[in-house]
Amino acid sequence: MTDNSGARTPIQAQSVDAPLSRSAVFLTLALSPHADAPARARGLLGDLGGLVRAVGFRDLAQHLSCVVGIGAAQWEAITGLPRPAQLHPFEEIVGTKHTAVATAGDLFFHIRAERDDMCFELERLILDKLGDAVTVVDETVGFRYFDARDLLGFVDGTENPTGAGMMEWTIVGDDDPAGAGGSYIVTQKYLHDLSAWNDIPIETQQKIIGRTKVDNLELDDAPGSHKDLATIVDDDGVEHDILRDNMPFGRPGHGEFGTYFIGYSKDVWVIERMLQRMFRGDPPLGYDRILDVSRAVTGATFFAPSNDVLESFGDRSSSGGRARPRETRRPGAWGHAPTRRP
Ligand code: HEM
Repeated sequence: MTDNSGARTPIQAQSVDAPLSRSAVFLTLALSPHADAPARARGLLGDLGGLVRAVGFRDLAQHLSCVVGIGAAQWEAITGLPRPAQLHPFEEIVGTKHTAVATAGDLFFHIRAERDDMCFELERLILDKLGDAVTVVDETVGFRYFDARDLLGFVDGTENPTGAGMMEWTIVGDDDPAGAGGSYIVTQKYLHDLSAWNDIPIETQQKIIGRTKVDNLELDDAPGSHKDLATIVDDDGVEHDILRDNMPFGRPGHGEFGTYFIGYSKDVWVIERMLQRMFRGDPPLGYDRILDVSRAVTGATFFAPSNDVLESFGDRSSSGGRARPRETRRPGAWGHAPTRRP
């Protein structure tokens, strides 16, 4: 792990590091063609902290939090700010057998809480405020599945960075002034063929994931496993971490079983390289066999600006379009405790 402390910024980040939750909503929106749609989106972003406080304060123990990301195509129109250095649209990856599709998305909301009614209420208010300035591209409601397992039955999230490392790997430093204090987000919605997966012997499943199924232990030797392909080591031997908060979702009555992948990083290239290795393989390793039972149906990249940037949008609407410097900061204004449960 590198020492990035020199590059860290005093700017207040969004609640990227919110605790793993029992419920989550992943909401992807596209701006409508209305001429005032970008301005209305900007107004909502300026109000978002207040909305989170309004809902979250009704039951603080539920740790309601919300991270908002903005896509490359509408970044300038919505924010009026220069684009963060690595922000570009998600690029489709056509692999030997499977494809990581690229889909639309101008705004993305990652809402987390211990209770699904809190997530629901915040989502309702956000959509109500945005009205016809947006259309919904995807709405996925995720839930905690026993001991943080995905629907393939494996514990998901174990190797996430913890403590100070979490922010070091996820929050952009001063080396990118347009992105300082923010984080890149990549999302993909996967649908699983659970019958095909359950036909695979557990020993083979473990080799595909790279961990044991029941007790979640790392396998010493699993070349070509998901764990192996998602491990990125640069030319200097530094391993690059990302922060994931995947959630299962599904509707058994409709035969729908899925994993919503969400990765946060200070460097979007790290997540892109993981995807390249998963879909194209890394010779002599083949592609990620998780994909034989998991079809990506969405794929999008966003940038979550710092809280300070978001709050300046609120200032702008009351000062004729120019952002005012903030005199005070409210730590924890986004309604989350700065700790993350293991
Ligand atoms: C079908 C979707 C996916 C499922 C079900 C899944 C599941 C898992 C599981 C069970 C683990 C092992 C435990 C852990 O450390 O979390 C894992 C590890 C990991 N996954 Fe995924 N994953 C999916 C997609 C992705 C994608 C798209 C990426 C990145 C682009 C990714 C990146 C990682 C990383 C970085 C690790 C940790 C590797 C390590 O250091 O051991 N995963 N995943």
